[in-house]
Amino acid sequence: MRTLFVYLALMPAIAISLDNGVMRVPPMGWLAWERFRCETDCVNNPHTCISERLFMEMADRLVEDGWSDAGYKYVNIDDCWAEKKRNATTGRLVPDLKRFPNGIKALADYVHSLGLKLGIYADLGNFTCGGYPGTTLDRIHLDAQTFAEWGIDMLKLDGCYSTPEEQALGYPKMSKALNKTGRVIAYSCSWPAYIGGLPPKVNYTLLGEICNLWRNYGDIQDSWDSVLDIVHWWGKNQDILIPAAGPGHWNDPDMLIVGDFSLSKGESRAQLAMWAILAAPLFMSNDLRRIGHTARALLQHPGPININQDPLGIQGRLILSIASLDIWKRQLKGGQYAIAVLNKGTAGTPKKLQLSLSLVNITAAQLYMVTDVYEEKHLGLYNPNVDFHISVNPSDVLLLLVKPLS
Ligand code: GLA
Repeated sequence: MRTLFVYLALMPAIAISLDNGVMRVPPMGWLAWERFRCETDCVNNPHTCISERLFMEMADRLVEDGWSDAGYKYVNIDDCWAEKKRNATTGRLVPDLKRFPNGIKALADYVHSLGLKLGIYADLGNFTCGGYPGTTLDRIHLDAQTFAEWGIDMLKLDGCYSTPEEQALGYPKMSKALNKTGRVIAYSCSWPAYIGGLPPKVNYTLLGEICNLWRNYGDIQDSWDSVLDIVHWWGKNQDILIPAAGPGHWNDPDMLIVGDFSLSKGESRAQLAMWAILAAPLFMSNDLRRIGHTARALLQHPGPININQDPLGIQGRLILSIASLDIWKRQLKGGQYAIAVLNKGTAGTPKKLQLSLSLVNITAAQLYMVTDVYEEKHLGLYNPNVDFHISVNPSDVLLLLVKPLS
């Protein structure tokens, strides 16, 4: 372990910059994993197995149902897409021939023809987390080259079945290899999530130089508890995480599960609001062919999306907690702020609070217009010292936009 620390400490001196110019705002799209997992039985589950059909159908939905117009551009393959063995002659990864009969290049062409981008998954190690062929250190250049030849636009490099020492070598090496292909391939690194997400094991300066985004923490599951657990970890470690994020390099609290089986309407609003405040990548993992109107309208609501996509790229901060209410604030362009008041409580009655802008350190202007983002309703014009009353339902959020009056 000591060698790893020494190695990481030395890295910035020989930093290789990813510098691919992409993801100046958090990426938006769709990702297979949380909802579709590693279902490979296309005989019994033709609509939900990991296959080219699934990704083509999601791409169709993205363009036909308003998602692409709302900003969701990536269609991302996750684990379990490959044959169980590499090609014996070339050593290259091969997509499962039954489930991807036309190959990944044809899928990329299809996705590109719709104006979308294609992401793929690999794993630095002997195997992927699902047991498919991994990318060992000696295969990094070959796999980067293969992905570039297929027309891939984004790579998620997971970290199962590798040691911390291999990760310290492999993640920077893949960054360099992707650059070398000459194709712009956004790079998502799961590295921090495999070494506890925190310094000194994680060097966020280095990550910002070699990756466009990174998973810091455990996998999201289809439950409100899982969302709360992630939000709690982000709040607890915000002094470390906030400086790491910015245009081109983002912390990734994992996929949006809005539209899946578990979240209520309020919980769905809360997850989206929190991911907006956190400047998080917005990768939905849901079934866009069957999603309900409410979830669709919510995920396409321009209010939280505009907050998420703010060009300053400053990650929001937990300012204070009052009983079951957590008040988060994110600074936006033009002296604006977003405020999320998250009610983590389960008492069956709305929580009331007297809030003022000065309570959350918004004091620069004389007057601010305060708007309820989801309801698209002006609450009023407020001097920072004047109290206003808010009410937040249990397991729900109030998302406010605070705009100075010029
Ligand atoms: C890990 C990752 C998940 C997903 C699975 C696939 O658990 O964190 O996001 O990619 O592997 O096996």
